Amino acid sequence: MVYPKKRWVLLILYLVMSFQAAAENIKMKAVINDITKIYMSSMTYIFLNQALINQQAKDKTNLFSQKFIDNIKLTYRAKYNEEFPKDNHFAKKILLQAMVEVMEDNKALIYDDDIGFKGIIPATYAFQISAKLATKGIGLKIRFTRTAESIRNKLNSPDVWEKSIMQEIINAPQIYYDENALLNGKPAIRQFTPLPMTPVCLTCHGTPADNPLNANKNKPQWTDIDISGFKMENWTINDFGGGVSISIEKSFLEQH
Ligand code: HEC
Repeated sequence: MVYPKKRWVLLILYLVMSFQAAAENIKMKAVINDITKIYMSSMTYIFLNQALINQQAKDKTNLFSQKFIDNIKLTYRAKYNEEFPKDNHFAKKILLQAMVEVMEDNKALIYDDDIGFKGIIPATYAFQISAKLATKGIGLKIRFTRTAESIRNKLNSPDVWEKSIMQEIINAPQIYYDENALLNGKPAIRQFTPLPMTPVCLTCHGTPADNPLNANKNKPQWTDIDISGFKMENWTINDFGGGVSISIEKSFLEQH
């Protein structure tokens, strides 16, 4: 039998603990939100600068080191109409660092005048960032995925969590946050951000009529292989464009 006084103590203890847990969740959610928006800004910057990435013999310093970060910050401000997030969590620092390192890894390719299309697009860039973070043992993962029926790269196939989230939001795409998920079998927070479908997406994922390689050609000469060498999937502007799936292990968030 618990005495009334003891019950009060337990109740207060319980309230304090739930309050702390709620505060912790708000903090974690803020971090993953910032990470998502920083990544989305870099994605926009990379899409907008496909010409610069693929052109011959140009000054490409905008794509490297601090200049690259500065451009992502500018893109962020324009995109979200707010200041770039504060440098107050290790996860954000490590992400920016990985972004610069991935561009550095691709430097020879980016400056190679013989290769017309360099293949540095948001999907591959996200993949390389995640690979880099994984080799450093950092529990932060960023990937592109879509419903399983038309996946270009099998490595982008959705996992169980992503499949169920997409099923839930496919008819009304919106950001989905889950504070009690798993990553590599460990407790993690996860966020799925749907990608808005735009005419740019269709130049690769759309129909042969959308393919710039077919411009000024007669229909019998059209190809259904896009500039990146993949077969086009015939998506239309009204289709679901998949999304960016970001996961952070809780132990990594708590350590820092
Ligand atoms: C220049 C061609 C190109 C453009 C433009 C492009 N993509 Fe992709 N996309 C690719 C390639 C290539 C892959 C596979 C990358 C890889 O190997 O991981 C891919 C992968 C994806 C994936 C992961 C699932 C899969 O099939 O592998 C999604 C989701 C996706 N793209 C959505 C989009 C959306 C939405 C847009 C427009 C905002 C877009 N893409 C624009 C070429 C493109």
